[in-house]
Amino acid sequence: MNIHTYEKVWLAAAMVLIVGFIATITYGAVGPGIAMIDDEAGSIDPAEINDDERFAEPGVEHVGGNEYEVTVVAQAWSYSPAEIEVPANSEVTFYVTSRDVTHSFSVVGTNVNTMVIPGQVSEMTVQFDEPGEYGILCNEYCGEYHHTMEGKLNVVPEDEFDLTELSVEAPDEVDAGNETTITANVSNGMQEDLETTATLEIGEQQSERDVTVAGDSTEQVEFTVDTADLGEGDHDWTVTVDDYEESGTLSVVADDGNASADGGDGDA
Ligand code: CUA
Repeated sequence: MNIHTYEKVWLAAAMVLIVGFIATITYGAVGPGIAMIDDEAGSIDPAEINDDERFAEPGVEHVGGNEYEVTVVAQAWSYSPAEIEVPANSEVTFYVTSRDVTHSFSVVGTNVNTMVIPGQVSEMTVQFDEPGEYGILCNEYCGEYHHTMEGKLNVVPEDEFDLTELSVEAPDEVDAGNETTITANVSNGMQEDLETTATLEIGEQQSERDVTVAGDSTEQVEFTVDTADLGEGDHDWTVTVDDYEESGTLSVVADDGNASADGGDGDA
C-alpha cells in the first residue's frame, strides 16, 4: 500500500501531538508536587466551630522537630488568624475550614490553593525553606467584599521564631506599707523547653528571675513588691520576657482610711 508523503507527515505530527498532550498532563498532575485535596482531614459542623478542639482557637501549633500545624477559619470576609507566622526550614500542615459560605485559601506564589467548603476540612502540607512574606487570598466569589478577603503568611528566620506568650497579673492599687505580688505567666508553645529570664522593672528597682518552661506548658513567676521601697504615688512597671513585654501602673496609697480623699475617683 502506498501512503502519500503528506499523509505520513500528518500522521507523524498527530502522534507527536498526542504524546505531547499526555506528557503535559502527566507532568501537570505529578511533576510540580501538586497534591489534590481530599476528605482525609474530616468534616466539621460549621455551627460548632467555636467548640471544636482544633478550630476553637485557630493558629500555629508546634508538633515537634520542624513540623507545625496551622488551623485557619475562613469566614466572610476574613481569615482567623489574619496573620500567620512560621519559621523557615519548616514543614507546615494547614487545616482550613469555613464558617459560612465557600471560600478559598490561596497562598500567593506557592502551590497552596484550595477551596474551603463549610463542613469540610481542607488539609495540605507545604515545606518553607526560606524566609519570606506571602499574601493569602480568597479565590472563590463569596459575596460583596470578596475582593477584600485576604491574609498574610510570614516565614521568619528560624532564630526569630518562638511560640512564647506573656501575660501579667498585677494589682492597680496597694496600701503603703504592704507587700504585693506581680505575677508573670510565661507560656511556651514549642515542644522543647524554654529557658529564659523574666525581668520586672518598677520605679528604680529591677529584679530578674531565671525560668524554665517545659514544652507546651506555662510557668508562673512571682515578683514580690515591697511598697516601703517604692513610697507613695504611682509607679510604672514593666515585665519583660525575651522580646515580649507588658506594662502597667501600681498606685501606692496611704493606708489612713481616706485614700479616696486625695485620689478623688474612689477606685473599686
Ligand atoms: Cu471568601 Cu471570596
